[in-house]
Amino acid sequence: MARGLCLIVVLALSVIAAHAADHSPLQDFCVADMNGQVRVNGFACKTPSSVQANDFYFGGMHIMGNTSNALGSSVTPAFVFQVPGLNTLGISLARLDFAPRGVIPPHTHPRATEILTVLEGQLEVGFVTSNPENRHISKILNKGDVFVFPVNLVHYQRNVGSSYAVAMVALSSQNPGVIAVASAVFGSNPDISTDILSKAFQVSDDVITDLQLKF
Ligand SMILES: *[C@@H]1O[C@H](CO)[C@@H](O)[C@H](O)[C@H]1NC(C)=O
Repeated sequence: MARGLCLIVVLALSVIAAHAADHSPLQDFCVADMNGQVRVNGFACKTPSSVQANDFYFGGMHIMGNTSNALGSSVTPAFVFQVPGLNTLGISLARLDFAPRGVIPPHTHPRATEILTVLEGQLEVGFVTSNPENRHISKILNKGDVFVFPVNLVHYQRNVGSSYAVAMVALSSQNPGVIAVASAVFGSNPDISTDILSKAFQVSDDVITDLQLKF
C-alpha cells in the first residue's frame, strides 16, 4: 500500500519535472545524444566533455528550399534533430520558402508559439482562435514585418507577391511538432470513417472519399 502510494508520488513528480525541463534547464546544456538508449522527455545528454561546437551549429539556412511541389512551399528546419545542442532549451528556427502563390496550408504546432519575419517578398498570414468564436485574424506582411502565431492555434502562410518569398520563423520548442489539418483529418492511417467525416463536414460521402484519396 505504502509502496503503491510512493510510486504514485514519484510518477506525479516526474510528470512535473518533465514538463518543466523544456523551459528550465538545470545545467549549462544537455546536447542530445541521438543514439542514447535512455528514454526521457526529449533526449538524454551527451557526456559534456564530448560536446563539440558543431552540436550547436547548423549551416543550411542560406540554401533556398525546393518549392517544386503541389503547395509551392518548403520548410527548412533547425530543430533538435538538426541541432542537438537545442535539447532542453525550448527554442528552434526554420526557413520558409514560397514560390509565387505558394502556400503553407492550415496547421498547428502542439508545442510551440511561432514568431515570423519576412526576409523577401510579401506574405498573407493568419490564424483562427478557438471555439466558439473561431475568429480569423490575418494580415498582409512585407519585407521586415514580424507576426506571431500563438501556441496551438491553426495558422497558415501564403505568398501573395509575384516573385519568390522567404521568411524565418522562431519557435518556442526544440521540437515544435506539426499537425497539418487536411492531412491529419483526410490522410490518417487508417482512415477516419467516411460517415464520420461526411457528418463533420456536412458533405456527401463521395466528397470525403475524393479528399481521402488526395492525402
Ligand atoms: C525539387 O523537387 C522536385 C520534386 O520532388 C524534384 O523533381 C526536383 O528534382 C527537385 N529539384 C532540386 C533542385 O532538387
